[in-house]
Amino acid sequence: MRLFIAIPFPDAIKTALLSAQDQLRQQCKYANFSRPENLHLTLAFLGETNRLQEIKQAMHAVDAAPFSMTIGGFGHFGDLYWAGIRRNPALESLALQLQNALRDRDFAIERRPFRPHITLARQVAADAPPKCTVPSISMQADHMLLMKSERIGGKLTYTPVYKMHL
Ligand code: 2AM
Repeated sequence: MRLFIAIPFPDAIKTALLSAQDQLRQQCKYANFSRPENLHLTLAFLGETNRLQEIKQAMHAVDAAPFSMTIGGFGHFGDLYWAGIRRNPALESLALQLQNALRDRDFAIERRPFRPHITLARQVAADAPPKCTVPSISMQADHMLLMKSERIGGKLTYTPVYKMHL
C-alpha cells in the first residue's frame, strides 16, 4: 500500500480552498487540480509499505494535544501550487515527532525540512505567474489519519485506514 499520514479539513476550510482553486483556474492554461475530497495536509509520507502495526505504534508515540491551525497564504514548488498554513509550533512539533517516531522504526522518511502546504493543483501552466488570495481561516486539529493512496478508475483516491485522536 502507498501510505501517508495527514490532517483532514472541515467543510469551512475546504470551501475556502475550493475558492482558491477557482481563482487559480481562471489564470491557468492547464492544471491538474486536487479533487475536493483529496484536500489535506500531509504530516509524513511513507510510500509503499504494509507495516501497519509499526506505523500505528509510531502515531501513538507522539505526545500532542488538539491545537488550532490557520490556513492562509499561497505559493508554489515549481509547477505545484499550494495554500499555506500560518506558522504553528504545535503543528511543527507534531510533524517532527511523528517523522522521528517513524524513522526510529526504520521507515525512510525524507530529511528535507517540513514545509506544511495544501496542494491545490499540480502541473500548472499559465502565461503569467498565478496569484491567489487564501483567506486566514482557523480550525481545531484534533486527529490525524493514516491514508492509503491509489488510482481507482483512473482517479487518484485517498482512503482513511486508521484514525488517531490527539
Ligand atoms: P504533495 O501534495 O506536495 O505532492 C500523498 O501523495 C501526499 O503525500 C501528498 O500530500 C504529497 O505531497 C505527500 N508527499 C510527500 N512526499 C511525497 C513523495 N515523495 N511522493 C509523493 N507524495 C509525497
